Amino acid sequence: MTVAPSRSLRSSGRASDRSSAELIRAEEPVLAHNYHPLPVVVAHAEGTWVEDVEGRRYLDMLAGYSALNFGHRHPALIEAAHRQLDQLTLTSRAFHNDRLAEFAESLAELTGLDMVLPMNTGAEAVESGIKVARKWAYEVKGVPADRATIVVAADNFHGRTTTIVSFSTDETARAGFGPFTPGFRVVPYNDLAALEAAVDETTAAVLIEPIQGEAGVVIPDDGYLTGVRELTRRAGCLFIADEIQSGLGRTGRTLAVEHEAVVPDVLLLGKALGGGIVPVSAVVARREVLRVLRPGEHGSTFGGNPLAAAVGSAVVELLSTGEFQRAAAELGTVLRDGLTSLQDKGVGVRGFRARGLWAGVDIDPAIGTGRDISERLMREGILVKDTHGSTIRLAPPLTITAGELRSALGALEKVLTEGVEQGVTEEV
Ligand SMILES: Cc1ncc(COP(=O)(O)O)c(C=O)c1O
Repeated sequence: MTVAPSRSLRSSGRASDRSSAELIRAEEPVLAHNYHPLPVVVAHAEGTWVEDVEGRRYLDMLAGYSALNFGHRHPALIEAAHRQLDQLTLTSRAFHNDRLAEFAESLAELTGLDMVLPMNTGAEAVESGIKVARKWAYEVKGVPADRATIVVAADNFHGRTTTIVSFSTDETARAGFGPFTPGFRVVPYNDLAALEAAVDETTAAVLIEPIQGEAGVVIPDDGYLTGVRELTRRAGCLFIADEIQSGLGRTGRTLAVEHEAVVPDVLLLGKALGGGIVPVSAVVARREVLRVLRPGEHGSTFGGNPLAAAVGSAVVELLSTGEFQRAAAELGTVLRDGLTSLQDKGVGVRGFRARGLWAGVDIDPAIGTGRDISERLMREGILVKDTHGSTIRLAPPLTITAGELRSALGALEKVLTEGVEQGVTEEV
């Protein structure tokens, strides 16, 4: 593969002496089959590159579903983690720890909001946001007990807990997991009239992704987020923006809502907040909202632990210079131009949606499913992931170079061209 770095990424011996094929076979009887990974077994990684057990290198164009926005093992983040590992790793919130204040202060400053509720995974941040919104509705808005509703968008992805899948519209995510949590209304995404019709005096919040990642990087029309902000303000309910995937530099801004200069009442963050090292998520909100929580009403043993806080603070520091956001915006132009040119060449790109270093690319289903394309790209040394049907998602680390990005696009062109030729041959 032409774009691979010449030196090995490995700094020490192998963790396992089994081959990739052996390790994949070994997982089968002992690991729950809730994922269908590409057949690559990663053993080492650095920056935008990962290396498998046999030493084959791949350009990571998925970046841990945007948890690796700063690349694998970013030196500043690794240093912050190492430093903290030598000091203190966990206290629980039964005691204070000396890292948490700085993390909350810096995250509040970065986002322009007031208070932080630290959690671990994205789904936990969403669950916590829902609980906070309901409590706010009863205590502040005066919604009658147990009547609060939350309006969400169709094709959402907010995580996998029982409550969250209760308002998913993806049958694969829901089937077999009922009974479901009540209190949610689903409206079409990007449809302000439908949203307006669904909001009433029981509405605690409108919860949306500013860009729907798992749905295929679906970007709403200009003005939608502004409309949601105005509507929620008028209706006296909260605007909760789930930026767990879209936030922290991915779209060329710190937050995707900044593209419309909108400030939500509640912001949900996760993934890249832990720098690809530890799970760190947070509900960040205005003081009037988060102050509804009192001791004993919500918590997490690991939420706000000192290791997470140290890494989270280092992540916020990386973002505070604007360097990563600028890189995502500039390289986003390279990505967009490359995809436009692929589309123009007629090699099977039916359409794409892109913002910053994030794109959903719809491939002609005659060439293959998203999974087929992902497997073919893997053989070319490029790791991507399909979303639905024949859509693949590109979300490389924001540290990727223009050269690496062009190489990935070149590999996509090769795979698609071969696919088109194969299709033509088969037709003949
Ligand atoms: C927008 C959004 N919200 C929530 C989640 C759930 O995060 P986690 O997998 O860390 O629970 C995801 C994960 O993909 C996401 O994209």
